[in-house]
Amino acid sequence: MAIKYGRPLESKVRVVPAGDPTADGLDLVHRPRRNRRTDWARRLVRENVLTANDLIWPLFLVDGENVRTPVPSMPGVDRISLDQAVREAERAAALDIPCLALFPYTDPALRDENGTEALNPDNLVCRTVRAIKKAVPNIGLLCDVALDPYTSHGHDGLLRDGQILNDETVAVLTQQSVLQVEAGCDIIAPSDMMDGRIGAIRQALDDAGHTGIQIMAYAAKYASVFYGPFRDAVGSSATLTGDKRTYQMDFCNTDEALREVELDLEEGADMVMVKPGLPYLDIVRRIKDTFAVPTFAYQVSGEYAMIHAAAGNGWLDGEKAMLESLMAFKRAGADGILTYFAPRVAEKLRQGRLF
Ligand code: PBG
Repeated sequence: MAIKYGRPLESKVRVVPAGDPTADGLDLVHRPRRNRRTDWARRLVRENVLTANDLIWPLFLVDGENVRTPVPSMPGVDRISLDQAVREAERAAALDIPCLALFPYTDPALRDENGTEALNPDNLVCRTVRAIKKAVPNIGLLCDVALDPYTSHGHDGLLRDGQILNDETVAVLTQQSVLQVEAGCDIIAPSDMMDGRIGAIRQALDDAGHTGIQIMAYAAKYASVFYGPFRDAVGSSATLTGDKRTYQMDFCNTDEALREVELDLEEGADMVMVKPGLPYLDIVRRIKDTFAVPTFAYQVSGEYAMIHAAAGNGWLDGEKAMLESLMAFKRAGADGILTYFAPRVAEKLRQGRLF
């Protein structure tokens, strides 16, 4: 960008002869450091902010009572039972976190080829949604729509002869969505990357009279190694056969993300999401600039694990890395962030000014 004001550049720079007693350095009109000189000035010119309103907190659920089982690859994150999830919902509400995202660790005995437990109206997610809505009615609940926590092969869709079926999977996902909404879920978040699922789910919700339910499409979800710790948490890494590259996006592409977002918006998505987060900020920015719709980013399990691992080794300050990484999402144009750091950062925001 050409600077259109001030003296021409050549006359601004005066090399002062060494030993000149009047020397006061360069004759600069523009000194960007002026705005960075003091804390109050830095705050005054600050372009982006992070508040608790920007956060969606993902929780991992497990059967039982009073259970908190640590996820080894995600320090500070536990699989929690329904009663504990209700407590965390109360804590989130007190911290002004607007929304929770729920992910079940399904008992391996309940997993099968077709993921039928996904359609059980009394499954762990539906029970937990009901319990949280009863105890904390004013917190938003987001439910993932995909079959991977329920299938014995760990894929998000129905698997036949080594292929993930598209249309047959979508038919199941529409039923899963309606069930979750009827349990009390507010935001349906399809993470499966099947073609046409947003339109089919929107239709199914409308037909069932749920016209006010939001859909947050995992619109640009890449086939990523950064989901590893999440798969440990929901118990699908041990069972996953092959990879997800026939449905999740190729991480070499960016135009394709715009196409996916365009389709999901046309089909009736209210909000779109990019996933993973930090390595994909270029995608967040392109989507925001192109479509100007509510755009979210998921700081995924592997990103969380990396920051914790480095901090645990004393290689960087974990708290500062958390804040800098979350602000990076805001700078890239994200309206909100799904992050496992949500309660920690919301607590810190409560204690006072962070930036
Ligand atoms: C499942 C799903 C995944 C994540 C959210 N929903 C994993 C996957 O697609 O394998 C990843 C979240 C994370 O890594 O934190 N459809």
